[in-house]
Amino acid sequence: MDDGGALPERPRGVGAGPAVTVPSDLRDRVRAVMEAHWREVDGHGYTVPNATVYPWQWLWDSCFHAVIWAELGDADRAVRELESLFAHQDDDGFVPHVTHHGRPDFHADFWGRRGTSSITQPPMYGHALAELHRRGIAVPAGLVERARAGLEFLLRARRRDESGLVTVVHPWETGADDSPRWDDCCPGGFDLRRWKQVKGDLLATVERTPGGAPVANPAFAVAPISFNALLVWNARELAAVGGPPAPGLDALVRAVEDRWDEHRATWVDGGATAADSGRVRTSDALLATLVDRRPGPVDRAAAELADPTAFGARFGPTQVHRGEPTFDPSAYWRGATWPQVNYLHWMSALEARRDAGRRAEADRLAASTLAGAVASGLAEYWHPDTGDGLGAIPQSWTGLVLVMTRPPPPDREG
Ligand code: GLC
Repeated sequence: MDDGGALPERPRGVGAGPAVTVPSDLRDRVRAVMEAHWREVDGHGYTVPNATVYPWQWLWDSCFHAVIWAELGDADRAVRELESLFAHQDDDGFVPHVTHHGRPDFHADFWGRRGTSSITQPPMYGHALAELHRRGIAVPAGLVERARAGLEFLLRARRRDESGLVTVVHPWETGADDSPRWDDCCPGGFDLRRWKQVKGDLLATVERTPGGAPVANPAFAVAPISFNALLVWNARELAAVGGPPAPGLDALVRAVEDRWDEHRATWVDGGATAADSGRVRTSDALLATLVDRRPGPVDRAAAELADPTAFGARFGPTQVHRGEPTFDPSAYWRGATWPQVNYLHWMSALEARRDAGRRAEADRLAASTLAGAVASGLAEYWHPDTGDGLGAIPQSWTGLVLVMTRPPPPDREG
């Protein structure tokens, strides 16, 4: 555990809430990790999530990295990171979730294509481009067009479930690989070894366009609230950069709103898991607040995130509600806290911060996530009650705490 040692610290007020004590060298620490993780390969520039555990370019990680580079004042790397992300985008808009720059044959048999994986991840590039734009970075028109095509592919080509939500073809597409939300898809119930096997096998049943882009998977016909909320939000963010409005977004927002379950205080996934594991209370499902702005659900979700008997935690929030039988605070995507999810909740709270309650929520999220990031040594994820680092350490995306502990850029003032 790294608690900052004897380094001088300076308090910094975030929003209107309690002051957050930010280590004075936080920026240097984040910069050091990002510099160490920067790669130049075949003319592409990108940041690996971790040098040994994740030595390639990942989709949603890179979008967060672009925001961190922007925060560090490096506009060039912020833009190059996104350009490299789209280097292998298909003509029909599909963006692969991992790119093996410089090693096109790596895992080519596994993925069934060279150079990249053959599934996607939450399309965070709409937000990344908007964030760069808000910070005064010139966003190339070609990048906006690529992002538009990526979002449009998901909105147009992806199979919908009966509720109108977009389905994913694989748990990895959600970014939340082992979430208990997918447990119905693990025959015999969740078991780590069996689930690993299932994740490998699920690639075989993905249905694809003639060009190879993934559009459906009968063996994983899940329509996660988190993925849908992020899809809508990123499309809206992209519109803020001058991208054309994506077609059909309002209907998708209504489909998300329809999934609110007042009794469980969560949004329930659509598709194959809707009756059972798709109802497990997870913090990523509460990201629906990015698009469902009705005060009732939004206030309940915010209260749940803060409540210590629900998701609330000193280094939190937890990723799974403490009352769920599957809650395990040390386990990968089954209870530990994830900084990028917390960042998105912080964004959601910030966007509505004319409301004093949500402004205080943003401050709480920033303070607890910062505490965990520092205690864990900028880990990939960590124990929500102890701050013990878990997964890859250090992880690039945890640099998002630098953004969370700064006053918001002017365009987001309430
Ligand atoms: C893990 C995470 C995924 C992330 C990847 C690289 O697979 O579950 O969300 O993109 O690592 O950091």
